[in-house]
Amino acid sequence: MKKTGFADVLIGLQYGDEGKAKVIDLIADKYNIIARFNGGANAGHTIETSKGKIGLHQIPSGIFYEDKLLYIGSGCVINMVKIVEELDAIKKLDIDVTNRLFISDQASVIQPHHILVDILTAGEIGTTKNGIGPTYADKAMRMVNGRLVNIKLGELLDNPELFDQIEVNLERKIQKHNVKDVNVEKTMQELKQALKTITPFIQRDTLFLQKQVESGKTVLFEGAQSVMLDVTKGFVPYVTSSHTVAGAAFVGGDLSPKFHRKTIGVAKAIMSRVGNGPFVSEFGGRESEEYCMDGAKHNKDYEMSTYNVDKMLISSNPFEVGIALRLLGNEYGTTTKRPRRIGMLDLVQLSYAIKMNGVDEIFLNKCDLLVDFAKTKDKAIPLVTGYSLDKKEIDYVPASNTAYSKVSPIITKFPTFSDSIANIKSAARLPKQLQKLLQTIEKTTECKFLGIGTGSQREAYILF
Ligand code: GDP
Ligand code: IMO
Ligand code: MG
Repeated sequence: MKKTGFADVLIGLQYGDEGKAKVIDLIADKYNIIARFNGGANAGHTIETSKGKIGLHQIPSGIFYEDKLLYIGSGCVINMVKIVEELDAIKKLDIDVTNRLFISDQASVIQPHHILVDILTAGEIGTTKNGIGPTYADKAMRMVNGRLVNIKLGELLDNPELFDQIEVNLERKIQKHNVKDVNVEKTMQELKQALKTITPFIQRDTLFLQKQVESGKTVLFEGAQSVMLDVTKGFVPYVTSSHTVAGAAFVGGDLSPKFHRKTIGVAKAIMSRVGNGPFVSEFGGRESEEYCMDGAKHNKDYEMSTYNVDKMLISSNPFEVGIALRLLGNEYGTTTKRPRRIGMLDLVQLSYAIKMNGVDEIFLNKCDLLVDFAKTKDKAIPLVTGYSLDKKEIDYVPASNTAYSKVSPIITKFPTFSDSIANIKSAARLPKQLQKLLQTIEKTTECKFLGIGTGSQREAYILF
């Protein structure tokens, strides 16, 4: 019998930006195809190479391997104009994705009115303003008053007159919200041109990935956003609008689940969250959330010129410690430049995400940054090791915002270490304190390590 391939799934286990792209880039060599299955340009996936840094939004993070195919599945939503921009950025790195990039013709198009509505209405949630929610909402609506609102790439290719529908959809929203500054003609021209540019990449065979795997090819699914931002499993409304969990890979990724082999979860040792919503281990709690809500106003340049990092780090005010850790960890949105909210590693949340997704191996990024805790007032690494709700300990993340807001984190302080781990290449050479901490994480989460991150560069890692 013919030998078939398999698919591994890599997902973020926290609130996004765990360094998924770095891990994809690290292990992509072992697979034939890197495939996205959810989200769109709301994702910001960074790979830092000696030649420079690239932030990918819609194109899978396997670009550096010339022989790997890249697939964007039907569960994704497509910003055609931004894909063209990304292709240009990739070209500047001397990388060619011709005959390598395939976009499912079943993926829905992000239409200009989706972006407009997102900009006008999603401030409360703090979305990335990429039109993600409105596009997935229209995908579910399908048709409104006889107007098609879910337009798939293949449908648009086959019926170019659907551009008129897209224009009407935009005009309607402009009128409804009394918007003055949208140049409809220019917007439509850009959209039409973008479709022309990406047409060679649009895959008309709806069984493309299935056939690849049946013929022996292997796939690495690249999750965007993360478990805690899942439209169902996260804290509604402070979530994205797609399914981010491992199972979603086999819906949005256009492959039968019978090919699933293992799931890899990526987390980071100091957590972050961008956008609003619950974050129980946040340094500075509500004060930090409100400060970060101001968005790009508190960007990196602003914080560098305003705060003294050492002074903030030693402060007894957790809000200030959070600012210092953000600066040291360079935690600013790849997509939006917003300051990311910073928090302690939350082992209850991590264990929950691992259990819920059946994660087989975990990769813990940003372990290098734990050294910063040596300069804090407590000289210790604080971790959330338990949740108390109504005076009872719980071992799961409750579903409602109301219940979650009543959770008191139980914090345990672990011994820190003071030497940089940036140049260490084997687990056995890590500081004993860090080795012990990693063992505690493994024991608590009942999940083994695939590796850890020791810096932002692509070669900064240790495999276990
Ligand atoms: P993604 O969305 O999960 O792919 O993550 P992002 O690219 O949005 O954010 C992760 C950031 O952390 C990027 O700037 C990475 O270069 C950086 N990064 C990844 N791993 C490490 C690590 O181990 N240490 C440090 N210091 N930075 C890391
Ligand atoms: P990657 O793939 C972090 C957040 C937004 C907002 C919420 C909804 O880089 O990890 P959306 O634009 O999706 O409607 O915004 O989800 N968010 C992310 N946060 N990393 C991401 O992607 C995110 N994508 C969306 O900040 O809170
Ligand atoms: Mg990101």
